[in-house]
Amino acid sequence: MTPTDGTHLGHQDRPGGQGNVESWAAPFVKGTTTVVGVFGDPIAHSLSPPMHNAAFRYLNLDWVYVPFHVASDRLAQAVAGVKSMGMAGVNVTVPHKVSIMAYLDELDEAARALGAVNTVVHRNGRLIGYNTDGRGFLRSLELEAGVTPKGRHVVILGAGGAALAIAWAVADANAASVVVANRTVEKAEAVAASIDGMTAAQAVPLSENDSSLKAALEQADILVHTTSVGMRPNHDVPPIVPETWLNPTTLVCDIVYTPRETTFIQAARRRGCPVVTGEGMLAFQGAVAFELWTNQKAPDELMLKTLRSLL
Ligand code: ATR
Repeated sequence: MTPTDGTHLGHQDRPGGQGNVESWAAPFVKGTTTVVGVFGDPIAHSLSPPMHNAAFRYLNLDWVYVPFHVASDRLAQAVAGVKSMGMAGVNVTVPHKVSIMAYLDELDEAARALGAVNTVVHRNGRLIGYNTDGRGFLRSLELEAGVTPKGRHVVILGAGGAALAIAWAVADANAASVVVANRTVEKAEAVAASIDGMTAAQAVPLSENDSSLKAALEQADILVHTTSVGMRPNHDVPPIVPETWLNPTTLVCDIVYTPRETTFIQAARRRGCPVVTGEGMLAFQGAVAFELWTNQKAPDELMLKTLRSLL
């Protein structure tokens, strides 16, 4: 063997060998490829790259989605790089969703209302921040249960960032009322206050002794669990409200997607409730971002299936 036959590079076992140039040279990333990606720290766990790249390939788009491990003290430089390198945009995840706003030229209405950005679009030399979490949730309701929030009574369990995004989205979609129940009731009050004026909004304590929560659950058309309770590895915990409080006609949603069948979803199924599991919101917040970047309808089903295959 000589060093020129490729053996020293360990390539001799690859299918087709180096002689089959066509299989290696098939275009994947080219000189013309448009680049998007995701900024986060950590980022290695992200499922967005395979999900978006599957969608680009399915639609035969000359785009690629790349993960970027961006530390907080380098965020400003990374955002400047979106402009200077001509990227079409980025997704933004923990811990940059709030701090990135300072470096953007414009914010859409949802991002302004939520005080958080998960998608940046580079358009005409400007960086515009969006928040697609709420629209992703609405799309999961519609595609997976055929339900829109208009005129519906909605109860949200939890009062973190995801709860706020969902509360704002259902209020914006003309829900009849929104009740926010949280262990720390002050945070529920803050979420309810931020959508007050858009729809009837009320905060109640998340407690098995609270009759107002029980009454709200009896009336609920849509119930959304947004706390971290039931997430792997602590997935063997009982649901956050008594199973008997679930009304069998309520559409029950859990945004926790690891595991897909949370104890909360299992309890809802036992009660006979229709359910929506959590991977839809994750897939479709990505689908909405995809549409903002490409101006093309995202392949929703493919993105959801890709995500499910990876979870
Ligand atoms: P995210 O931004 O992903 O929504 P978060 O801001 O950390 O996450 O919010 C987590 C939510 O889960 C909060 O509503 C939290 O309740 P508190 O505001 O009282 O902390 C809720 N949560 C977490 N652990 C909980 C538990 N063991 N019981 C009830 N609620 C819990």
